[in-house]
Amino acid sequence: MAHRITLIPGDGIGPEVADATARAVEATGVAVEWERVEAGLTAEKNTGNYLPDSVFESLARTHLALKGPVGTPIASGHASVNVALRKRLNLFVNFRPVRMLPGLKTRFSDLPIDLVIFRENTEDLYAGLEHEVASGVMESLKVITRSASEKIAKAAFEYAAREGRQKVAAIHKANIMKLTDGLFLRCCREVAANFPEIEYAELIVDNACMQLVMRPETFDVLVLPNLYGDIVSDLTAGLVGGLGIVPGANLGENCAVFEAVHGSAPDIAGRRLANPTALMQSARLMLAHLGERDAATRLQKAIEAVYREGVHLTRDVGGAAGTDEFTSAVIAHLN
Ligand code: NAI
Repeated sequence: MAHRITLIPGDGIGPEVADATARAVEATGVAVEWERVEAGLTAEKNTGNYLPDSVFESLARTHLALKGPVGTPIASGHASVNVALRKRLNLFVNFRPVRMLPGLKTRFSDLPIDLVIFRENTEDLYAGLEHEVASGVMESLKVITRSASEKIAKAAFEYAAREGRQKVAAIHKANIMKLTDGLFLRCCREVAANFPEIEYAELIVDNACMQLVMRPETFDVLVLPNLYGDIVSDLTAGLVGGLGIVPGANLGENCAVFEAVHGSAPDIAGRRLANPTALMQSARLMLAHLGERDAATRLQKAIEAVYREGVHLTRDVGGAAGTDEFTSAVIAHLN
């Protein structure tokens, strides 16, 4: 029977990388029935709503989505569709594996970088609780709860135990934010105590950023509150070739949304230059989540073969190909 999957193409380069990825998923031979629904600018144009009910109706049926990026206006305009989606579906884990692809030349390609980010996905400064206290004074509330902190810490340690990982590092700024980040850290320590076989470390976020640039190969699993997780995700993407590479998954109790780390890339949108690798690797995670392990492995191997050959790579990773040429090369390897 075909897998029913919600497909949210999104904004900017979203439809380009989503269509490329859908083609690659179909080329694995796995039977898929896509339920295509719009969120973001296109949805707003068609329905007057950035996040229409049709998205949630589809997800209530499929419990699973492949999603392109959705843009959010800066310093004005509507609230983030991504944050709203993650909160409403309680997708409390943001899972982002960061690995060097074979053959890809980056400043760090000599290093065996293989780390995994567990970013809390529902609270922190993304609570969106901002107000004007007085003229010229704005306030934004940072919300950290025991329940969400425990969930992300458990997810990180359970993953580490399951996958034979050695170390989990909690990243924080509890020297300054003693109550909020202090609670996050306490939860991580409590969960760590149940996993004595896994080494546990704590790093202040500024130091963590320096260490990640100096010694990225020494990191294994990282667990972070929402904002640091967001920033550190892009930093680590930069280590392995940029935002065109790194995949992700938003995971909850009974729903999962697979999407890349990158945004809608307005600077290259509509030009068929975008690198679909990040969303294709997200689709590989999705196939594994569906139990289609063989297809997941074949898709990953096809992507890696294209990188190893180095002939059909997109411009962001030093090649000259567009989205379609790269996608066809991946599909050729799948066939
Ligand atoms: P961005 O990730 O869209 O772009 C940053 C830089 O990376 C740009 O130079 C872009 O061309 C490049 N880039 C990103 N993905 C690429 C790809 N697949 N192939 C080749 N180059 C790629 O970040 P930016 O500019 O900060 O954000 C743009 C919009 O995206 C904003 O409205 C933001 O809110 C939204 N956004 C959405 C996310 C989501 O839907 N999950 C995540 C991050 C940002």
